[in-house]
Amino acid sequence: MYDVYEIRKLFPMLNNKKMQGKPLVYLDNASTTFKPQSVIDAVESYYTDLTANSHRGDYDLLYKMDCLVEETRKTIANFVHCQPKEVVFTSGDTMSLNLIAWGYGHKFLHKGDEIILDVAEHASNILPWFEIAHLTGATIKYLPLDEEGRITVEGLKQVISSKTKIVSLATTMNVLGYSIDAKEFAKVCHQYGAILVCDGAQSVPHRPTDFAGDDIDLLTFSGHKMCGPTGIGCLIGKYEILQSMNPFLVGGGMNVDFGIDLNMEPLPAPAKFEAGTLNLAGIVGLKKAVEFLQEIDVENIEKHDQELFAYAMSKLEKVDDIIIYNKSADGGILTFNKKGIFSQDEATLLNSKGIAVRSGQHCAKILDEFLNTNATVRASFYLYTTKEEVDALIDALINGGDILDAYFN
Ligand code: ALA
Repeated sequence: MYDVYEIRKLFPMLNNKKMQGKPLVYLDNASTTFKPQSVIDAVESYYTDLTANSHRGDYDLLYKMDCLVEETRKTIANFVHCQPKEVVFTSGDTMSLNLIAWGYGHKFLHKGDEIILDVAEHASNILPWFEIAHLTGATIKYLPLDEEGRITVEGLKQVISSKTKIVSLATTMNVLGYSIDAKEFAKVCHQYGAILVCDGAQSVPHRPTDFAGDDIDLLTFSGHKMCGPTGIGCLIGKYEILQSMNPFLVGGGMNVDFGIDLNMEPLPAPAKFEAGTLNLAGIVGLKKAVEFLQEIDVENIEKHDQELFAYAMSKLEKVDDIIIYNKSADGGILTFNKKGIFSQDEATLLNSKGIAVRSGQHCAKILDEFLNTNATVRASFYLYTTKEEVDALIDALINGGDILDAYFN
């Protein structure tokens, strides 16, 4: 039985915290999430009981850490449905996408090849590809958004060609909250000989992921958006693709040998992408975070997000001066503006009521033309968000006064 009030008790950040002297209403979960005590304890346990490096010694303490790293790989593999050797630890979604761009794109793309993106992608899934396009002469094409702002398989079919080598898309958009059926997209990509890269930063924490079943080629996500620590995330890749890629970082722990002749033999994946000391405290914390999500069941999280979104929509639809940009979002991301009010002013007003939201472009800086505005307010929910918190947001939007009240109250 999913009990949001019981779940909240597990999070220290939800224990009577205040902002501006008001009870904190945290609605910026697409940016980062709070951590349950079990994750905090796990991170601390690395420093109090487990401190040792991994993969670099022959003593018990280090062996224990080695085992924990590999157990974490198994836990993640079980969570997203892949093989443990297909799990690469990175610092997060951004590093994973850069690793793909450099390790795969830079190695395999040539002048005239095409990369397909869409204008709703956030910076981490756009800028690495700009770099690779500049360096290789590949071109970037954008999958059209439909009237709502969704990407569709039909849209993909309009732009994909035999020149397309990479299609890189968010499985859930960070501003509009629309999700895709990755399996359908993968099918079309593979018909044209392209690989499908799924940026799962906003989907892996919120709904079930089936990497193998959906035939995804490469998948990325961050731990901190799913109750885990900051600075740890994953790249999941089909093993033969990982093996074909160049390492992005080189150094200790990723090579079999190197010599004065400038030759270096990399270890097989995933180790060849994990140069240097790993974020071990982060790995221990991520394991606990994934176990926590598995216990709650991601399907329940998805349902909870959707119920909150539907609840918010049922109330906001009746309010004249709120423009909603994603009325049919698939999860818990609500993006809006109050007519005539700059988004940052509205966010500042909400802050004065203790409500944390994000305003601006949300790193999706080429979506403005589609939205017909260059800045929006985004409220994003997660497994611990309550209807009362949604009510607080709506009440502040309707009865909150204006920005001058925020400054002078
Ligand atoms: N991509 C993160 C967000 O959407 C930072 O807020």
